[in-house]
Amino acid sequence: MEKLEKLYEGKAKQLFATDDPEVLWVEYKNSATAGDGEKKEDFAGKGRLNNRITTLVFDLLAKRGIPSHLVKRVGDTAQLVRKMDMFPLEIVLRNTAAGHFCSRLGVEEGIDFDEPVLEYFMKNDELHDPFVNDDDLVVLHVCTRQDLAEIAPLAKRINEALIDIFAKIDVKLVDFKIEMGRTSDGTLLLGDEITPDSCRLWDQRDHSGKVEHLDKDLFRRDLGDIIPAYEEIERRLSELAASEGIAID
Ligand SMILES: Nc1ncnc2c1ncn2[C@@H]1O[C@H](COP(=O)(O)OP(=O)(O)OP(=O)(O)O)[C@@H](O)[C@H]1O
Ligand SMILES: [Mg+2]
Repeated sequence: MEKLEKLYEGKAKQLFATDDPEVLWVEYKNSATAGDGEKKEDFAGKGRLNNRITTLVFDLLAKRGIPSHLVKRVGDTAQLVRKMDMFPLEIVLRNTAAGHFCSRLGVEEGIDFDEPVLEYFMKNDELHDPFVNDDDLVVLHVCTRQDLAEIAPLAKRINEALIDIFAKIDVKLVDFKIEMGRTSDGTLLLGDEITPDSCRLWDQRDHSGKVEHLDKDLFRRDLGDIIPAYEEIERRLSELAASEGIAID
């Protein structure tokens, strides 16, 4: 597969065209951003780790009957994905109170919910990715009622599968953000990435009683170096994938 012109550059990844119009080349960058892009730093090795972690997570999800846009990893920092028409949405699933949920609602971090909470944020840098509900999305023509009737149950299924995957590596899945789109034939698929940049992952192997973050909160909150945490996630997911017979190169 040939890598052609750059189509888009975001804060975490670059998208390139390929000689197949249905396939994109994604390059994972080393940069980390937080606080609506105000905080920015480069971490050597982060692109490679996130590329590997996303690939492992998508492979583990596929094993659980949840397909994604991933075609295959093609290098240290690159992967091929099925090109989609993306919904400009951050789809957030929460199992435990943290982050924006706590600041918005005055809830203490770490409270486990009786059932998962699904939230939508519109991807719009100028408006700082506003929180929206189903009706907002429908009247703004971001998606239809029918789209939402597919997106919401798929998001819940992804949550169930991810809870299982992370529980198997002794990590609590507090919350995460995903994106979805439709391929040219109209199939709704999980896209973008699932990495410690986009999830809150709390280590359950540490028994000191305090939360051991294995995610981007280390950077957001100046709690420590992200790279060893991302390496730990990559190591544990690789072991799990191997135990499930998933080929890792
Ligand atoms: N299968 C796909 N087809 C088309 N576009 C995709 C696909 N998967 C992800 N994308 C898009 O690729 C882009 C990835 O870039 P990146 O995550 O760096 O930037 P961003 O999400 O636009 O902005 P931010 O810098 O806030 O993350 C996103 O716009 C995402 O919606
Ligand atoms: Mg992004």
